[in-house]
Amino acid sequence: MCGIVGYIGEEQAAPFLLSGLEKLEYRGYDSAGLCLNDGGTLVVKKSKGKLTELKTLTHNGSSLHGTVGIGHTRWATHGEPSDVNAHPHLSESGRFAVVHNGIIENYLPLKEKLMDKGITFRSNTDTEVIAQLIEYYYQGDLMDTIIKVLSRLDGSYALGVLSKDNPDEIIAVRKESPLIIGLGEHENFIASDIPAILSKTRKIYRLENDEIAVIKRDGVSVFNTDKEPVQKEYETIEWDIHAAEKGGYEHFMFKEIMEQPKAIHDTISPRIKDGRVVLNEISLTAEQIRSFRKINILACGSAYHVGVVAKYIFEKILRIPTEADLASEFRYRDPIVDDKTLTVVISQSGETADTKEAMKEAKRRGSHVISIVNVLGSAIAKESDDVIYTLAGPEIAVATTKAYSTQLAVIYLMAIYFGDLLGKITDTEYQNYLSELLMIPDKIQQILDNSENVQYLASQLFHADDVFFIGRNIDYALSLEGSLKLKEISYIHSEAYAAGELKHGTISLIEKGTLVIALATHEELIGKIVSNMKEVQARGAYVLCLATERHQELKDVAQNTIFIPPTCDMMLPSLAVIPLQLFAYYVASQKGCDIDKPRNLAKSVTVE
Ligand code: BG6
Repeated sequence: MCGIVGYIGEEQAAPFLLSGLEKLEYRGYDSAGLCLNDGGTLVVKKSKGKLTELKTLTHNGSSLHGTVGIGHTRWATHGEPSDVNAHPHLSESGRFAVVHNGIIENYLPLKEKLMDKGITFRSNTDTEVIAQLIEYYYQGDLMDTIIKVLSRLDGSYALGVLSKDNPDEIIAVRKESPLIIGLGEHENFIASDIPAILSKTRKIYRLENDEIAVIKRDGVSVFNTDKEPVQKEYETIEWDIHAAEKGGYEHFMFKEIMEQPKAIHDTISPRIKDGRVVLNEISLTAEQIRSFRKINILACGSAYHVGVVAKYIFEKILRIPTEADLASEFRYRDPIVDDKTLTVVISQSGETADTKEAMKEAKRRGSHVISIVNVLGSAIAKESDDVIYTLAGPEIAVATTKAYSTQLAVIYLMAIYFGDLLGKITDTEYQNYLSELLMIPDKIQQILDNSENVQYLASQLFHADDVFFIGRNIDYALSLEGSLKLKEISYIHSEAYAAGELKHGTISLIEKGTLVIALATHEELIGKIVSNMKEVQARGAYVLCLATERHQELKDVAQNTIFIPPTCDMMLPSLAVIPLQLFAYYVASQKGCDIDKPRNLAKSVTVE
């Protein structure tokens, strides 16, 4: 996902822009660029590759003069990563410069029309069309021009715009893609996300859809597309500045793995009062909850894997048919949804385009939507009927850990809350669930404090070419996340497989030395998973088993075992996922991978 930073003030802008872009590297990018308005001359420097290329090109920003500028890190959607496709993009005469996060869905017809009028394009990006349109429509009033251009655009965009004729302002626009404005003293900022500006200010505006901001040194004015002023309330960011930094850990991912006990504690504590689960965020009456005949869970990536765990939990406890759906599949399937369907949307960023659009589809069909989101004020949070925030704090590593764990914690809270409302759990069960939930942070800490075995196993097994994660029931749901974690940061091919299904085909791939990670935490099916372990061992597999401490006998079955403390069935994934996260982390470390910014990946994909 692209990153935008802008500065207008009294200091040289370029060095700050570069440091701000560094704080946004986690979003994933393949090229970067700056544009400075140096007293009415727009100077652009941009290059393919990492920010270090741009720093070299601009001598760490020192060779770029001017106290007004915009910067960008690009995650390619249209046009391959290249110098010319990097942002900022200039209009034909160089009068306007634009940086953009999002996707202009109708850029091709617009580009063709402009080319028919003789306008020359330099890049094959959608963004350049915006810069060219501004110049094409410009009659002297930049705001009027921007409003007209916006009326021609279909799609999503966060924009930063500079104009030669307006050397003392930056224009910022938001539609779908997030954009914030930082409020300083005789200086102001724009950014895609808070870490970029936290070193300068804690006061921000969050731009809403179809808002246009005019940012000057000593003030920020916000308008709607009817050019009417919009009154904004500023927000003060309480994050400890290191919350968005590594805090001494080598990688954000490791820091975030270690933060999980606190993240879960912070997420559940405000929602447990006097021995009861309190979910005031849910606006549904008990009668409405009783009226639901189906639950659909929509998400992508690891958030989807939480949905699969939730399916097993909701069906087991609530006895309501529950489907976990890949958001990108759900919306094009003419899904069966009505007002008797409860939709649960899970998203760390709250900006994932597939998930956001799937949510809109469910709403259009009459479903009540509860979202579980980590980023405050994000699009999914705003557009769902109810939002339950995970309080994991900023998650910077692309491979999610603490967001996954806090999403699971919210699922447990919902299961207990709804189970009680629906009369599906007894008071004793209620209290047992609650006491187990309250112990989860400490049990995770216990696993984290005793993870040497996992690190050792990773050092022995990181040469594996193909890895199979197998499990049954809730262990199968967890195997999806274990497999993705390993794939996304170590680039080792792995597959998650329902253990009972392996023999129906894929077992043909098992050969001598194949690494099979067998998840055997689900009490009822231990016998079955032991059979599956023996099945693959008979074909030469090396089995690493993950089980609760209650089953020491599994040491005699598997080549190696990892034990976790026991807990109630539905909460086992919260404990079992920790060794799997660590295993993936240590394997990737052994392989020298770029753990926080894996190749090809983005923290949140805000385009389809
Ligand atoms: C992917 C990320 O792009 O999007 C995953 O790499 C993430 O880590 C998935 O789980 C969904 O993102 P979000 O923000 O909707 O949870």
